[in-house]
This record gives sequence, structure tokens and C-alpha cells, in this order.
Amino acid sequence: MPFYHKLGNIPPKRHTQFRKPDGSLYAEQLFGTIGFDGMSTNSYHEHRPTQVKAIKKQYSVAPKIAKKNHIQSYRLKGFQVKPENDYLESRKTVLINSDCSIILAAPKQSTKDYFYKNTDADELIFVHKGTGKLRTHLGNLDFKYGDYLLVPRGVIYKMDFDTEDNRLFIVESKRPIYTPKRYRNWFGQLLEHSPFCERDLRQPQELETHNQKGDFLIKVKKQDDIFEMVYATHPFDVVGYDGYNYPYAFSIHDFEPITGRIHQPPPVHQTFETDAFVVCSFVPRLYDYHPDSIPAPYNHSNIDSDEVLYYVDGDFMSRNDIDAGHISLHPAGIPHGPHPGATERSIGKVKTNELAVMVDTFKPLMVTEEALKIADEDYFKSWLE
Ligand SMILES: [Fe+2]
Repeated sequence: MPFYHKLGNIPPKRHTQFRKPDGSLYAEQLFGTIGFDGMSTNSYHEHRPTQVKAIKKQYSVAPKIAKKNHIQSYRLKGFQVKPENDYLESRKTVLINSDCSIILAAPKQSTKDYFYKNTDADELIFVHKGTGKLRTHLGNLDFKYGDYLLVPRGVIYKMDFDTEDNRLFIVESKRPIYTPKRYRNWFGQLLEHSPFCERDLRQPQELETHNQKGDFLIKVKKQDDIFEMVYATHPFDVVGYDGYNYPYAFSIHDFEPITGRIHQPPPVHQTFETDAFVVCSFVPRLYDYHPDSIPAPYNHSNIDSDEVLYYVDGDFMSRNDIDAGHISLHPAGIPHGPHPGATERSIGKVKTNELAVMVDTFKPLMVTEEALKIADEDYFKSWLE
């Protein structure tokens, strides 16, 4: 998160004595990324956060790759992913490269018996269906339809769902996920031409502090293995923190679209960036207003990036036979564009209600066995007249 946040109680100066009412010291932890160069947070705990009692299990959750190298466009029917009770087991990686994983999940139940920590990657969780609360050791965030939840690597969390009907589109990123640099000034403030500003980014306001000892299971993901670690104190025992590294939420409905007289390129939809991929939000907007404009996109040859579109809601003007929950994968190396008839069909339209999330990766994505279970193998022929 590119701006400062403070929650709970902290001492006036960092790395100084901060005592509990009984006179003992709170345990300070610097929680940062990229060595000591990235964003960090200074947190104060009831107990030392280092008290490991046992490492009970280690098992791989690495996805099985079905197609390592390919040049085929795919459509994946995301809502065909079966709902599962457990949050972690419900997460199905469908596309992956060495920088990121694209995951679909339909969890039915809240995480009750364990906490989760991903040390491999930042997680960007897009809520397609469901409401609830993301509970973390750095505070809680309520979520609903359309929210992006950005959980930096290392944050210990649980997901509380209000109902069993939940659909999530998740991107795990080995590189930190930031807001686009071109929208920030040299102090980090979002500029006037940014499609969102700090007021749209929701910071945790509710801090859970549990001063408890016992057996607390944290499932820690590291190098695609889960380690089941038992800690001696409750992971949510922070009394206060400040800094820049904490989870936050941003609603896709708060993204203000940038429009023009002629078709605007995908970067105007950009919402997040990393060194290895971008995330864009396609939201309801007015179409291009040049008298001869063509609202449908032109064919384009993304020769060196893979394009993943996750369709959320509304009409998808440039595609035939695409529904909510579908993913289209247009791989690097070949052009793609509107389906037959879509270009003519778009002329004269003044607005769109489409809602979609796009992930463009700079390295090719591999297709997993989970993806092939929900894949339309003939999608690549759908541009034929
Ligand atoms: Fe495209």
C-alpha cells in the first residue's frame, strides 16, 4: 500500500520501550518486503511472534501442468469449478507461470480451524460472488461483490463468508503488486489523472487482539508446499501498528473509466502493476464519441504477452457466447480480436455495461489439468466465419 496507515496503540518512537499495563514489554516486529527496502509495517504484539511449537505436516500444493507450451486460445467456464467446503482446497490454479498463478475458487465455508499465510506471493482476491470479512493480523476488511482484496505476502489471514455461495478470482504474484507508477507522483500520491485515488482504497479499521496461549495452527505456503505449523500464541495479538505494508480493499465499482473520441487502448483500464504482469478493470462506461468511431476493439497482436480476461457481469460486446465466470486466454504469438459480427454490431452503441478483470502476463502461461476440466477446446476456432 503506497501510503501510511496507523491502527491501534503504538509508542511515540520506534524501537523504544513500549510496556503493557503490567510493566512487561510488548514484542515489536518489523514486517516488510524486499529486504529492508520495500514497504514495511512496525507492529506490537502481546507475545513474541516467533514461538513455534511444532511443524506437523508438509505437503505439495503445486498445480499439475497439462500444457507447458502451447499457442491455443482457450475459454474456461469458471463457474464449472465445483464448490468445496475448505477455503484452501477450493482454490484451483488454472493458469500459471514463474511469476504468477491464476486461481478460481468457490469456497463454501469460512476458515475456522486454521490461519493461512502465503510466503510465496502477494494475493489479489477479486470477489465475484459473496460477502464477508477478511480477518488478518493487521486488521479486518469487510468485502462484497466487486472488491479487490490485496493481501501482501506474509499477512496471516482467515476468510469469513456470510453464505456458502462464493466465487473468487485470485491472482498470486511472486512480485509485489502496486498501483501503477505512472499514476503516482514522486511522493507516492495518486495524481489527478489516476482513475482512482486514496479515498477509494479501504484500509483496515478493525483490529482483533487476542491475548491467548495454546495451540494455533497456521498453514504456511512456501515454495508451493504447505507447512502446518503450530504456534504457542494467537496470531492475531497485535495491539497496534503503523507503516505502509498492510492489506487493503478496492472496489472495481470505484474505478472511474477513461474514455475518448476513438477507441482507448487497454492501459487506460490498468488498476495494478507488477514487474511481470498488469491487472486492468473493464467497467461500465460511455463508448467512443467520434462520429465514425468503432467501439469494438481492433484486432491486436499481443506478440509477447498472454491476455487473460475474466468476465464478471454485463454484456461482452466483442465476444460471442461468453458468460459471467468465463475466462478467455489469448496467448502470446498470435493476434486476436472481435468475434465475427462484433465490429459491425458495436457501431452506434453509446455505452457498455461490461465488467471484467484482465491480467496480461509478460511470460507465457501454462495450462493446468484443472483448467482442462473446464475448458472449451474449440474456442480457438470461434473467429472462423
Ligand atoms: Fe485483447
